[in-house]
Amino acid sequence: MGVAHYDWTEYYDIVSNGLEGDIAFYTELALQSGGAVLDLACGTGRMSIPLALKGVEVVGVDSSEKMLEKARAKAEMACVSDKLQFMHGDMRTFELNRTFPLVIIPYRSFLHLLSVKDQMAALRQVRKHLTDDGLLGLNVFVPTIKHLYEQDEKSSTRGIYTIPGSDDRLVVWDYTRYDHFQQIAEIIRQYERTDRDGVVVQRVVTPFHIRYIFPAEMHHLLRLAGFSVVGRYGDFAKGAFGPESSELILVAKKR
Ligand SMILES: C[S@@+](CC[C@H](N)C(=O)[O-])C[C@H]1O[C@@H](n2cnc3c(N)ncnc32)[C@H](O)[C@@H]1O
Repeated sequence: MGVAHYDWTEYYDIVSNGLEGDIAFYTELALQSGGAVLDLACGTGRMSIPLALKGVEVVGVDSSEKMLEKARAKAEMACVSDKLQFMHGDMRTFELNRTFPLVIIPYRSFLHLLSVKDQMAALRQVRKHLTDDGLLGLNVFVPTIKHLYEQDEKSSTRGIYTIPGSDDRLVVWDYTRYDHFQQIAEIIRQYERTDRDGVVVQRVVTPFHIRYIFPAEMHHLLRLAGFSVVGRYGDFAKGAFGPESSELILVAKKR
């Protein structure tokens, strides 16, 4: 069965549980900024809800209604619905008619923008929704030539997960195919659920695309869109960004 990746949310929260320390990092930024936060590509609220639990007002925008439905239900369960607004919108075109002291695009969501035109459109919208001294925080993975070469047209296990409330197991594979001219990875993700006897009870295939971004390119994009970088880290404990870093974490402000 093939379905649109983010419109199929059944296992998203089990499989996509973030990067070490990312919630603490963005929470600190939010508390320092002292105002409302715009969480772009907020998904099921993985970042928005912990921020709201800290008393921060959050507006989450996402292009998948299904993800937003789940986010709203989770906010309700966490009793923070009054702090949160989840809105349907596209990073490239959304209009909220207000500004924020902090806009965040966590968990590599910026990579879902598949062309320079789309990346610039999103950064333009971010700039428009930022206060004059507001900050943009985002993170993307660092592609390496070695991985781009080795992973091409290969399948790898992304992880094996237990499903809460059942004895079933979920094995997730990614098959990756690159178009290096467009800098696009097509990832065909397969979820295979097995019961306690090892019998496959469900198999779902969801393809999606990302555009990988080299660190210097991310700096150029931000500069081109009218930002200057004020913080650059290689991990969420604010370790320096260096040759071994696998994540690029940037904080930028309007120039
Ligand atoms: C990796 S998930 C991240 C979700 C959430 N930020 C988190 O940390 O768990 C990527 C999200 O980006 C959303 N998305 C993809 N393209 C988008 C776009 N152009 N505008 C808004 N959201 C988009 C997807 O629907 C999905 O919820």
